[in-house]
Amino acid sequence: MISEDIDEGRELPHEPLEHWGGFIPRPQGFDATRSRSYETVIDDARVAQVFCYTNLLSYRPGDDVLIHASTTATEISIEIRRDEIGSNPVDVIQQIKAPFSLLPADFAANGCGWPVVARWTVPRDLRSGFYLVIARAADGQGNVREHVHGITVLPAKRGARAPVLFILATSTWTAYNDFGGSCHYLADNEPEGLPFAPKLSIHRPWARGFMSLPAGAPRKGYATALEVGAIPRYPASEFATLRGYSRYYANAGWANYDRHFALWAEQNGYNLDYATQTDLHNDPDILEAYRCAVIVGHDEYWTWEMREAVDQYVEKGGRVARFGGNFYWQIRLEDGGTKQICYKKLAKTHDPLMGSTHARRITAEWEDPLVGRPGAATFGLNATWGMYANHGAFAPRGSGGFTIYRPEHWAFTGGNFYYGDILGGSARIFGYEVDGLEYEIRDGLPYPTFKDGAPENLEILAMGLANNREVPHYSTGESLYYSDETDTFTVPRYGADTPENRDRASRGSGMIVHFTRGKGEVFNAGAADWVAGLAARELGTEIVTRNVLDRFSR
Ligand SMILES: [Fe+2]
Repeated sequence: MISEDIDEGRELPHEPLEHWGGFIPRPQGFDATRSRSYETVIDDARVAQVFCYTNLLSYRPGDDVLIHASTTATEISIEIRRDEIGSNPVDVIQQIKAPFSLLPADFAANGCGWPVVARWTVPRDLRSGFYLVIARAADGQGNVREHVHGITVLPAKRGARAPVLFILATSTWTAYNDFGGSCHYLADNEPEGLPFAPKLSIHRPWARGFMSLPAGAPRKGYATALEVGAIPRYPASEFATLRGYSRYYANAGWANYDRHFALWAEQNGYNLDYATQTDLHNDPDILEAYRCAVIVGHDEYWTWEMREAVDQYVEKGGRVARFGGNFYWQIRLEDGGTKQICYKKLAKTHDPLMGSTHARRITAEWEDPLVGRPGAATFGLNATWGMYANHGAFAPRGSGGFTIYRPEHWAFTGGNFYYGDILGGSARIFGYEVDGLEYEIRDGLPYPTFKDGAPENLEILAMGLANNREVPHYSTGESLYYSDETDTFTVPRYGADTPENRDRASRGSGMIVHFTRGKGEVFNAGAADWVAGLAARELGTEIVTRNVLDRFSR
């Protein structure tokens, strides 16, 4: 199906995608960079298809997991396994009958509405963690088709076996999940006629690549600096289009981000309890049993309530470590957290809270004056002063790491680091989205200007340069993902969207910062690809991560 778009007549070295019920390319010329193909249910029962989702993102031991599925096969099986090194199945449910259901027109906002085909009770003694839920079906020709879903299992007793609560960045996963062609970035046939879906139900399958990935799937960022003279590339987009993975598999999800921290931490002896952002939203007290909370990866979407929970936790003595980037949008959760709302750049014209007494809760940038809650006030950094690095034409030849300015800080202990060193360069941790601050350099050291809500005792330990405008060079074969549209995302730091402000906003930074608040403290290494350093066992990234976890979980 997709093959004719790529290279007519040539056989691809991979199973044809129609077996997957997979991707429908849009009718436009082939361009892996800008391809808008997506995975969906195909209205053809002859195509072998299996998809599933669950009623919630997370469960406690003893809870019933309701599994909803659609398949063209006569029966499916569901395997459940904790995603960890040396993972074994916890359970396999065989011979499940599931009808073949399509996507209703309003599936993005209201869910797929497929029937419950199986119930699985989380064992009372099951260890907290992230569990893959793998649906399998025979296609009638001796092949097995697979769809991978995932659930979070909360601890039976909070904090009893782990001092650290790992909060999964599930709001960002949800935002990018384009199964069926709708997410916070694009939409096919969005009921309100918007170019993206402002309301997203969690009752949708995860698009391929969000829950599991084959080894070697490219990250969004460059694995090595772009060769001088070479045109910018998007290896993840190319891989996604050729192999039938979501165009956003490298942008967000368990497989490419949170998983790398989980595996590294558990292998290195750190006991973690797991929860989702939705758990934090619904139950802010969840933090209280822990010495430390951690969030990692691409971490872009938060609710007011989640921030409130973190701020109060830190005030009372909690420690928060963030190894992630892109703190940008306010969202709202509805229906017990099963529906996520974000009107983004259209909030002023479309968000129903505009003009109400709750206008601060409009789903716009944290930096928007109407919202008036600077992102930096919670995590020390924000997205609008940072943004892009190490992908496409965004600083493709940067150092790949953070330049260290204050090597004497405890976070760098044991690394024998010096002023001017690059941290994590070989693993290219500085990308693909980074968070920064307004800053000035005095006597060779960066200082926050504190005009953007940064906490008053915040120190910038290390930083690097972000570039928020993909400047076309018009080279043969060049195809830019954003071109020059991107600095609209960083303009809100200056207010009005004018050409002058866009130019100023085209430059940004990414930082590692530390500050204390009340009795607690926050460490923030503001790069989505920090986890690439852990996955690659890059020593500098590991040393800093260990120093933070050891101090914060003590
Ligand atoms: Fe992002």
